[in-house]
Amino acid sequence: MRCIADTAPGRTEAPVPSDRPSARLRGFRPDDVVPIAAIVEEALHERYDPSLYGSLSAEWPDGFLVAVDADDRPVGFLLGVTQVPGEARVLMFAVERDHRARGVGALLMDAFLAASRGRGFQRATLEVRVSNATAIRFYARYGYSVVDLLRSYYSDGENGYQMARPV
Ligand SMILES: CC(C)(COP(=O)(O)OP(=O)(O)OC[C@H]1O[C@@H](n2cnc3c(N)ncnc32)[C@H](O)[C@@H]1OP(=O)(O)O)[C@@H](O)C(=O)NCCC(=O)NCCS
Repeated sequence: MRCIADTAPGRTEAPVPSDRPSARLRGFRPDDVVPIAAIVEEALHERYDPSLYGSLSAEWPDGFLVAVDADDRPVGFLLGVTQVPGEARVLMFAVERDHRARGVGALLMDAFLAASRGRGFQRATLEVRVSNATAIRFYARYGYSVVDLLRSYYSDGENGYQMARPV
């Protein structure tokens, strides 16, 4: 499956400093599908069959992390999959626009790497549009480095980078 952890080309957003508390994490629940699909549409500009979320969650429940606000409403998520032996892959990763630059993404990535270690994976991978400077900077800060250029990887023809780091 083509990696869908991405956003539209040319979109960048500056982090807005904020002292508001970050979200807390929990696992995916079936009633998260609607709010998560809304985040996917807003942040990743994609729409998927709602059943996709449940079926991927069933394959690796600990790899599907949901960040929720004080009312238990999803404000971000990271969906990890395990398609290659020994590897965890970030398939989708997004935080609601109003909740970015407050550490929610870091919370999700830390938990994803911990879950990957818990499963004994050696490597974490992801794909990102070459234009997605915000995400590339975030991943680089997390020790991911570019391991491959994926030519015309996205449906609109944009190239992607595959990035990876040891777990
Ligand atoms: C990539 C993404 C998930 C990161 O989520 P996030 O919640 O903004 O991540 P964080 O808040 O942990 O970190 C983002 C930045 O804010 C900074 N930050 C974190 N908490 C902060 C705070 N309280 N005040 C100010 N800045 C803060 C971080 O240092 C980080 O800086 P960087 O831009 O140099 O990396 C988010 O930008 C997003 O959803 N983008 C759109 C979808 C997308 O591109 N997904 C990835 C596709 S491959």
